[in-house]
Amino acid sequence: MITTIGCCDSGLGGMQVVKALKEAYPNLNIVYIADQSNVPYGEKSVEELRKYAHAFLDKFRMMDIHEVVVACNTLCANVIGDIQEEYEDLHIYNIIEPTCRQLAGHHFQKINVLATPKTVEKHAYLNTLKAFCPETEIHEIPAAKLVPIIENGCDSDILRKAVESYVSDKADAWVLGCTHFPLIRPFLDGKGELFDSNQAVVDLFRDEQITGEGKMEIYTTKDPARMKESIRTLLGCDYDVKAITLDS
Ligand code: DGL
Repeated sequence: MITTIGCCDSGLGGMQVVKALKEAYPNLNIVYIADQSNVPYGEKSVEELRKYAHAFLDKFRMMDIHEVVVACNTLCANVIGDIQEEYEDLHIYNIIEPTCRQLAGHHFQKINVLATPKTVEKHAYLNTLKAFCPETEIHEIPAAKLVPIIENGCDSDILRKAVESYVSDKADAWVLGCTHFPLIRPFLDGKGELFDSNQAVVDLFRDEQITGEGKMEIYTTKDPARMKESIRTLLGCDYDVKAITLDS
């Protein structure tokens, strides 16, 4: 039985996971924290990423939230595995394995993974996908430019050009290994089958009994009015956003 889930990311990426969860489970209470003061995470040091992950998990613990979806591939790839044992009272969901599991049984010849440089550096997707798709050629592409464009207003011409600079290499399937990247789906039309973390996270709770009242709390470490507006224009949702401070 689950009533409330905490969810976190550097910015607007995890909010897309939240939107998918909300559509699938309207009763679920969700507390989302975006660390927009420190976005992008994609080229930060492991020490900094560890600090951010601790700050999120400590905050959820203080809020008495025990189910936490880390909707950030960069944190999942680099630090969540190591620090998880310090939070035995929390159920922490790493989204990389569920995202990869979606490709099991597809028999693609080639899969391209688009992710942040720090996620690619760890080869978290390469190693996990190999287990599900042992016969498949897998190629990881570090894409540093996309998150800042999305966070800075998501200008579609600039975003399209940036996406084009990463996708000349052909593949049967593309894994969007950063939660910001579902927003680039329109620019990958016809490139191959696309997979992201949204549905993968929804599927994690398929067999759970959800018993909340559908409450939604959204926090940012930066500018609540700006985040509210971004959520409205990019995701078509109208939610209040409040300021929060994290000890990072
Ligand atoms: N959306 C996050 C991820 O999935 C973080 C991206 C960033 O801040 O660079 O990796």
